[in-house]
Amino acid sequence: MREIKINLKRPYTIYIDSNLDKLFNTMNEYKIKKNDTLFLITDDKVSGLYNDIILKFEKHFNIKKYFFNNGELNKNMTTIQGIYSFLIENNANRDSILIGLGGGVVGDLVGFVAATYMRGIRYINIPTTLLSQVDSSIGGKVGYNYNGIKNIVGSFYNPEFVFISTNFLKTLEKKQFIDGLGEVIKYSLIKDKTLLEYIKENIKGIAEKENDKMLYIIRSCLSIKKYFVEIDYKDTGIRNLLNFGHTTGHAIEITSNGKFTHGESVALGILVAIKMSENILDLSNEIYNDVEEVLKKLGLPIEYKVDNYNLFMYAINHDKKNGKKIRFVLLQDIGKGKIKVEVNNEDILKGIKQSIDKGE
Ligand SMILES: NC(=O)c1ccc[n+]([C@@H]2O[C@H](COP(=O)([O-])OP(=O)(O)OC[C@H]3O[C@@H](n4cnc5c(N)ncnc54)[C@H](O)[C@@H]3O)[C@@H](O)[C@H]2O)c1
Ligand SMILES: [Zn+2]
Repeated sequence: MREIKINLKRPYTIYIDSNLDKLFNTMNEYKIKKNDTLFLITDDKVSGLYNDIILKFEKHFNIKKYFFNNGELNKNMTTIQGIYSFLIENNANRDSILIGLGGGVVGDLVGFVAATYMRGIRYINIPTTLLSQVDSSIGGKVGYNYNGIKNIVGSFYNPEFVFISTNFLKTLEKKQFIDGLGEVIKYSLIKDKTLLEYIKENIKGIAEKENDKMLYIIRSCLSIKKYFVEIDYKDTGIRNLLNFGHTTGHAIEITSNGKFTHGESVALGILVAIKMSENILDLSNEIYNDVEEVLKKLGLPIEYKVDNYNLFMYAINHDKKNGKKIRFVLLQDIGKGKIKVEVNNEDILKGIKQSIDKGE
């Protein structure tokens, strides 16, 4: 088992292993004792797939369970209210501990409830998707969607610890796995060259979710995110590098009407940002083909036909992470990113037409 310690005002540890064998020992180390009451929260899909794990929990502790319907559409106030009611009905108090077992939706919701119930109680995060293992389980952002706006209500709040098992990835649908790989590629470009080299050399093993490959990748991504989170926890500066590929990515996610997942959209956004980096920051033009090749081999998209450019540019300009001017994260080199590069619509259009929408 590997550990990554996140050094914040209140530090916490992420444990990474290829199974959950050491989970209950770890809980003991956190003074969570046999017969303590724990509130296990997950979605209906994960609970169905991993009933054996829930049974194991029930053997070790006094478990109260709450399952909600899976999916982003349920990352809302109704689900939050359901969890609050469940906690109240079961007499959860300040000493209670929540366990979030599931993907990013479960993690964000359970984290938010933990942050707000009785002004903050403890929670443990067990992320079960690649996206949640490399991204949402670190950095403290918790919350939910409201009035159709993603993550508009939220807080910064950290778990007691995070326990990652690569075994969960085995049951992920292909599209969901590839979704996470989009973020993995993002990480491989913003900090240094090591991760991209590793991915290039191990494409097959990664596509087949081999344990050692996934362990390496998850550790690398978390170390990279840890670096940015520790120096800019509240995301006012350099942590913004983690949004590489996301400005165009969000617009693709919205305008593709569900065809592309978040990670797939980010992959396309990365290609646009690389072209723009060539045009604006003189990024070497060898990188584009390299990255395109990797995306292709991993099953990520490399082409996107923009149907309506007016609508598309409208979507880019309304990306909530931007102020009035359009600001992009671009690259000077692999591992050398630049945040808040002000660009105009022409720069973006040119980048798109040279990369994902060549109009052939
Ligand atoms: N807090 C952050 O910093 C942060 C960062 C990135 C993303 N997010 C959030 O994460 C969410 C996306 O994460 P996600 O893709 O994990 O979403 P998700 O929780 O909706 O999981 C995706 C689907 O996979 C299913 N699933 C989960 N684990 C599984 C497994 N092991 N095998 C088979 N199916 C499984 C779920 O039931 C769901 O249907 C978004 O809401 C996003 O806003 C948060
Ligand atoms: Zn993302």
